[in-house]
Amino acid sequence: MIHKITKTFVQYSAVVVAFLKLRRVFSAVDDFLRKLLGKKPVLYLLEYHVADHCNLNCKGCFHFSNLVTAQDFPSLAQYRRDLARLAELYANIRTIRLMGGEPLLNAELAGFITATKAAFPRAKICLLTNGLLYKRLSGELLSTVKTNNVEVQVSLYKPVVPQKPAMQTYFRQNEIKHSISPPITKFAQYINIVGDSAPHESVKQCPASRCTFLGGGFIARCPLPFNIQYLGQKTEIQAVMQNEKIDIYDKNLDGFILKKMLSKPMKACRYCGKLEWFEWQQDGCDVVDCSSAVDKMGKIPVGGLAASQSR
Ligand SMILES: C[S@@+](CC[C@H](N)C(=O)[O-])C[C@H]1O[C@@H](n2cnc3c(N)ncnc32)[C@H](O)[C@@H]1O
Ligand code: SF4
Repeated sequence: MIHKITKTFVQYSAVVVAFLKLRRVFSAVDDFLRKLLGKKPVLYLLEYHVADHCNLNCKGCFHFSNLVTAQDFPSLAQYRRDLARLAELYANIRTIRLMGGEPLLNAELAGFITATKAAFPRAKICLLTNGLLYKRLSGELLSTVKTNNVEVQVSLYKPVVPQKPAMQTYFRQNEIKHSISPPITKFAQYINIVGDSAPHESVKQCPASRCTFLGGGFIARCPLPFNIQYLGQKTEIQAVMQNEKIDIYDKNLDGFILKKMLSKPMKACRYCGKLEWFEWQQDGCDVVDCSSAVDKMGKIPVGGLAASQSR
């Protein structure tokens, strides 16, 4: 039995590796031809935080949203400017993922969606959410989501599992394009605080590799250079990570140069190591036993799911 599982795993991994290699070759050929024809390149994925904070606070959140202690929304005007600049560099961005933190906490979300579509009309727009506030997908936001064909992608955590049937019915009745993940029972941690990993090895197992991330006029290969600020006091890891942000307004950049820079492992990848999995849990509280309401930031300090949904 073990032998069979191992064999299947090895075969599956081989297919994934082959697919990734093929995709890299295809991307290189595509870039080469576009350059030859004087066209701009295509970026495959861009992630953006419409809120740094979150209402769930999963322990060990990859984006450190559980550690954000104040409401933190980006400027819509800056986002528009940054997208306009990226549109100078790229012919298209295939997928743009609006996320966080928890994106449904942002009252201007419809504006962020509209701005995304205006800058990159052919992009697939995804909204990655923990689903706690799914009923906020109503009124103007609902029509914006539908008009722009946004796919709502729900990460299904323990407190949201009982809501899944109602959420699915709501999405279907309102004709919201959606996907809901299988229940998430494990989370991983991967920071190697000692900083002695080999960057090219780290990227092989990185869950955020090539999750090109935009924020405040800068871009990076992963979200860490932006979100590391929330990891306690200033330390060497923060300085090294933040140094990886690339200024998108740098006059020496074109889309090809930037794409190449983003494809290389960062020096900061030495702070990422092996994934270590643990049971998913809300930070600092047992969500099952908790019952108090949502605080001012929209966080659920002790798991008050019903209260959070009625806000
Ligand atoms: C940072 S979340 C932001 C969007 C939204 N709040 C959510 O949870 O879907 C983006 C994705 O990263 C995943 N993620 C975050 N931290 C993780 C961890 N420590 N281990 C595994 N997956 C994690 C989440 O499950 C989610 O699918
Ligand atoms: S729901 Fe969890 S994973 Fe998503 S941003 Fe909030 S704390 Fe992070």
